[in-house]
Order: sequence, then C-alpha cells, then structure tokens
Amino acid sequence: NWTMENFIETEIKRIRKLVGPTAEVIGAVSGGVDSTVASKLMTEAIGDRFHAILVDNGVLRLNEAANVKKTLVEGLKINLMVVDASEEFLTKLKGVTDPEKKRKIIGNTFIHVFEREAEKIKPKDGKEIQFLLQGTLYPDVIESISFKGPSQTIKTHHNVGGLLENMKLKLIEPLRELFKDEVRHLGELLGIPHDLVWRHPFPGPGIAIRVLGEVTKEQVEIARKADNIYIEEIKQAGLYNQISQAFACLLPVKSVGVMGDQRTYDQVIALRAIETTDFMTADWFPFEHSFLKKVAARIVNEVDGVARVTYDITSKPPATVEWE
Ligand code: XMP
Repeated sequence: NWTMENFIETEIKRIRKLVGPTAEVIGAVSGGVDSTVASKLMTEAIGDRFHAILVDNGVLRLNEAANVKKTLVEGLKINLMVVDASEEFLTKLKGVTDPEKKRKIIGNTFIHVFEREAEKIKPKDGKEIQFLLQGTLYPDVIESISFKGPSQTIKTHHNVGGLLENMKLKLIEPLRELFKDEVRHLGELLGIPHDLVWRHPFPGPGIAIRVLGEVTKEQVEIARKADNIYIEEIKQAGLYNQISQAFACLLPVKSVGVMGDQRTYDQVIALRAIETTDFMTADWFPFEHSFLKKVAARIVNEVDGVARVTYDITSKPPATVEWE
C-alpha cells in the first residue's frame, strides 16, 4: 500500500542504487519547498556526497541567502554552498527593462554561474560529479511535455532541463510523480520547518520582475523592504495560509507626498495578494481596510524612497499574477 512513509523508504533505496557507493550529486536550491524537500531526501540517501548550491542572484528576498543557509545547513544538515553572484547578475541586468529579457538574462546567468561553481566541487577520488538533482514535480513534467500551454507562450519558465545540455550529468528527479500537496506532506515528514513547507511560491527571476523598469541594487532594496513588511503583517494577521501568493512591486513612477512639513517626491509600491488553486486564474484577496491602512503606513514610514502605496484589485485574467 502506498503511503508517504513507504515512499521515503523506497525512494531512498532507489537513489542509493542509482547513484552507487561512490558517485557525487549536485543540485540547486532556491529556498522554496520543492528544492529543499528534494535536497533533504538526497541527503538522507547519500549524506555529503550530495552538494547543494544556492546562487544568490541579487534579486532574492530580504536576508534570503542567510536564512536559507541557516535552515538548510544548521537545521537540516544539508551540504550547502552559497554563492554570492549578485554583482554579476545586477551588472548583466543594467539598462534592461523588458520583462522577457530580464527572465532570459537571469536564466542564462544562473546556468553559467551554476556550471562554474559545479566545476569547483571535485569529489575526493578525482572523479567528476555524475548526477544532477532537480525538484521537478508531476505538474512540471506535464507542462514540459505539452510545452505550448498559455503560460509558456506568455512567459518563459526555466524549471526543467537547461543545465543538462552542457554538463554531462544524469538527472535525478525524486519528486517527479508527486503533486504539490504531496511534496508538502513529504516535507513535514522529513522535518522541514512548517513555514518553509507552506511558503508561497516565488518566481525564478525573483524581485527583478517585481521592480518594474530597470533593476538596480537600490531599487531591489526598496522592493525587498516593502515586501518584507507586507509579508510580516500578513503573517501577524494570521492570513498567510489563506493567501496563495502575496508580494510587493516597485513601480517606476514618482508621486508627490508630504512627510512632516516636507514635500516628498518618491516612488509607488503596489501590493498584490491572490487566492487561486492552479495559478491559471486568480482572484485578488479581500483584505480588511484596516489591514491595508496599517501596511501602507508602515511602508511609507519605514522604507526610504516610497511616497505612496496602492493595492492591486485586478483578477487573473485579464491581469497576470506578476506585474511583469
Ligand atoms: P503569472 O504572472 O504568469 O504567474 O500569472 C503565475 C505563477 O507563475 C509564477 N511565475 C514565474 N515563476 N519563473 C518562475 O519560476 C517565471 O519567470 C515566472 N513568471 C511567473 C508567478 O509567481 C505565479 O506564481
């Protein structure tokens, strides 16, 4: 009979058999549930012969690299290397405003950095790394088979494939038969912290597609701080689990405001929160006005560079979840 406990046991055996007694495995982690669950499973199977890499692309959430390191290394004992490539990504993104170009640059730079860092991991016996772990889920498998779905033609996702083309690696996808709720259940059983297991999805291109217009370090910093306040308040109000995804966007628009007796002329934050089951359609979340009032006040008061806060009341369709 199929249970998640049995799944863990069988999968660990399958991984050990597939990888053998000496080979090494590499995999990217993002701080999200899928890559963390896959990494933990791999660690249970082969210990430190699994090498996880977190690429800090400069557009992660506030304190994300440090938080991931703490959870994965200290908490879950995963053999993780954090690579700070933020300058490299931000340099490549200089002057770029087109959303699809941002995605391509981040996707390509990621592959480049990952390959370069993978080269540095030399197994003790002088052999090469032989396997690549990916946290692909069943819906990703289906999506990559029928690649012409509407979401793919509108926005390019870079979850499946890519890395294998240049590196001579074999793919391991322990989650490829699971749905998201099953991965979450698996994560709970593997001792992954509850907050991480139930975290909202975060796009690969990160805050780069939430800073509308040109992405600079300063703009990312503003978007990050506003987002952090927003999510903090959502959690404190006990609403996080009712919402499918929430985030702040920084608009490339200046607006007049007043602080004390000073006139200000600063940017605008747009808050987004949606409820959905499949992310193909979505409704905006009906916050209490008092909640929105509190968040807006905190963001304008605490984040330099923001003069005004708006709430996005557009459903999908016609809008998408992300602004870019
Ligand atoms: P949209 O904006 O297409 O978003 O309605 C639907 C879901 O997909 C996420 N998303 C992305 N995820 N790379 C990703 O990994 C991307 O380029 C990307 N674009 C959108 C979005 O956050 C939402 O969960």
